[in-house]
Amino acid sequence: MFDRFTESARRVVFYARYEASELGGDAIAAEHLLLGILREDPALIQRYLPSPAARQALRAEIRRPAGRNGKSTTAADMPLSPEARQALGYAAEEAERRGDPHIGPEQLLRGLQREETGFTADLLRRYGAPANATPAADGGGAEAASAGQARDKNRIQAAAAASNQAEAAGGNDGAGGGGEGLRAVGISKRYAAGGQELQVLSGIHLELGMGEMVAVVGESGCGKSTLLHVLSTLDTPTEGAVYFAASCLSRMGSDQLAEFRNREIGFVWQMPHLLPEFTLLENVMLPRMIAGETAAAAARQAAARLEEVGLERRGTHRAGELSGGEQQRGALARALVMQPRLLMADEPTGNLDEATAERVFALLVEMHRRHGLTTLLVTHNLQFARRCDRVWRLHQGKLERLDTAFPGPSEAS
Ligand SMILES: Nc1ncnc2c1ncn2[C@@H]1O[C@H](COP(=O)(O)OP(=O)(O)OP(=O)(O)O)[C@@H](O)[C@H]1O
Ligand SMILES: [Mg+2]
Repeated sequence: MFDRFTESARRVVFYARYEASELGGDAIAAEHLLLGILREDPALIQRYLPSPAARQALRAEIRRPAGRNGKSTTAADMPLSPEARQALGYAAEEAERRGDPHIGPEQLLRGLQREETGFTADLLRRYGAPANATPAADGGGAEAASAGQARDKNRIQAAAAASNQAEAAGGNDGAGGGGEGLRAVGISKRYAAGGQELQVLSGIHLELGMGEMVAVVGESGCGKSTLLHVLSTLDTPTEGAVYFAASCLSRMGSDQLAEFRNREIGFVWQMPHLLPEFTLLENVMLPRMIAGETAAAAARQAAARLEEVGLERRGTHRAGELSGGEQQRGALARALVMQPRLLMADEPTGNLDEATAERVFALLVEMHRRHGLTTLLVTHNLQFARRCDRVWRLHQGKLERLDTAFPGPSEAS
């Protein structure tokens, strides 16, 4: 289906997947594709919707979260919804009708306007786009485009200033340093499953100091992933609150949280979840592109992280062509590309053979130290757990400290 897509149209789908996963969806809906086009080709949308207020309102309306499902559906698992698939089919027809061998963002937009449920078309129309898929005349388009770029630049500068302030306030002070880290107070989590209530976490208090590396162990099903999801704001606790660097995360709105996760938390899962049809470099660039950076700036940072994980010569390979260990090192590079302060890893070596697991774990420790991260690692591997600063065991909804006498990565040289 994607053979005739231009690079630009492929990036639209790439962004749409991430939008869908950020908004807690379990499929890429037609409107996520529209968000993808908004990111990839703002000038195109400006031709359809010349008013900046209309574009902003449209974006806000689509981004209104449809309610998290509590699962961490990752972007790589995200299928296309039937409507999105249909819109892509129409995009192909539109390209054919105009004798164009390639499908680009403009064809995608036309496809979305024809999509049968009409939801996206309705949205566009409601905000002033012409119904017949003919963009507004180009007059003033260039001006509007440069105004949009200036706004984006201001937004990035404001975000950078805010993050510098946070650092100056004692945030990222290096391995083993002081400063308030991640704190959870009275965390409980109950699920309603099969008509019954399942209590997974029961009044957990914890503190993870800045620069610490802590392992969470416990038998399968005891709630380790649930704890990690709650601490990383991917899921909400039934009771309790989570704080990071003195901010209460539990009071942030969903947009603010999405931005917080994008900037402050790097995630590594058991599966690498790289998008197989994109190059490794593109995969690692993605969080920075989503934060609104230029491709050139994102590529610079991505290349630097790839070098750190020893994959500088693999950047142009499609992610699907890499070995499992290489993919997981790539996932670590992607997790760190925003230079987050927190690293959350859920059984990052669970799928690897012993030697590869050792290499990936050693790299995780090295990155933890080099970047002064605060790291939470869920693992079934007790050898790895012992090499962390502290080990917590999750048992019957409570955390117990297993042993505090390990040398730990912050002290070991
Ligand atoms: N969304 C959900 N709805 C209902 N129950 C859930 C949900 N997510 C997890 N659970 C249940 O909560 C319990 C804890 O699950 P969790 O995935 O956190 O365990 P875990 O310790 O990470 O296990 P593993 O080591 O196998 O990964 C399990 O009994 C699981 O079935
Ligand atoms: Mg788990």
